[in-house]
Amino acid sequence: MTFEIRPLGDALGAEIIGLDLSAPVDESTFAKVHQAHLDHLVLVFRDQRLDPQHQIDFSRRFGPLDHHPSDDAVLPDFPDVLVLSTKRENGKYIGLPDAGPMWHSDLAYRKQTALGTTLYALETPDSGGDTRFANMYKAYEALPKNLKDAVAGKRAVFLAGRNNANRSFKRTLNQTQRDATPATGHPVIRTHPETGRKSIFVSAQHTIAIEDMPEGESAELLAAIFAHAAQDEFVYTHKWRVGDLTFWDNRCVQHIADLSRIDDPTYIRHMHRTTIEGDAPF
Ligand code: SIN
Repeated sequence: MTFEIRPLGDALGAEIIGLDLSAPVDESTFAKVHQAHLDHLVLVFRDQRLDPQHQIDFSRRFGPLDHHPSDDAVLPDFPDVLVLSTKRENGKYIGLPDAGPMWHSDLAYRKQTALGTTLYALETPDSGGDTRFANMYKAYEALPKNLKDAVAGKRAVFLAGRNNANRSFKRTLNQTQRDATPATGHPVIRTHPETGRKSIFVSAQHTIAIEDMPEGESAELLAAIFAHAAQDEFVYTHKWRVGDLTFWDNRCVQHIADLSRIDDPTYIRHMHRTTIEGDAPF
């Protein structure tokens, strides 16, 4: 199978043109997709027509699937597929309308954090709802020396934004889900298990403190790192089209969704997500 790889800008990201993910992907094509993912960090497969099983099958090529704590926001009969949607039935959201209001890496609060996420657009709004992706390799490499030195060898506390009393979400976790999602510790700077490159892993949505550091100092340091990592030079902004499947590497990418129209009743954004399990960051 042949396909074209078209980079999306200087920061990260590439479009994959001409590959139909509803058909089985042979080994040599898979190897090229895998390499493109490592090289470009975010892949955008255009013009897909995928049912939930196609998305699951493609995702499983990269590893076992993991699950978001919101286990009641999944697709009926497909517990591997998380629904991200602004749609409601009987006044209740059918999925998560606001996954990702702050910069983050998916499931960063698990012991084994996510390798990658696929997100498939079924319905997109005429404006708003973009997803911004930031290259955490580049952000680490450009981190000022004083910040690099301050966090070298340090670990941080990660807590799911949705399990943090200081954060507000349209749809929160119930007590059972909260109890199953405790805080965990990971390095501030992680090393990618496949490329060996270092990247910033702490994020505004899921990191609450740097371990063994006074609270004020930790908060100040994290704020400086978050501001640095979100600079435009590290970012690609994805404007969704129906049929786009994006696939990003959570080990070296952070992302944030634009929720500026979320309270507009005419705003419909409807997507299916899978998350591939990765390893414990080091
Ligand atoms: C997410 O954070 O997984 C979803 C991002 C988005 O809705 O664009």
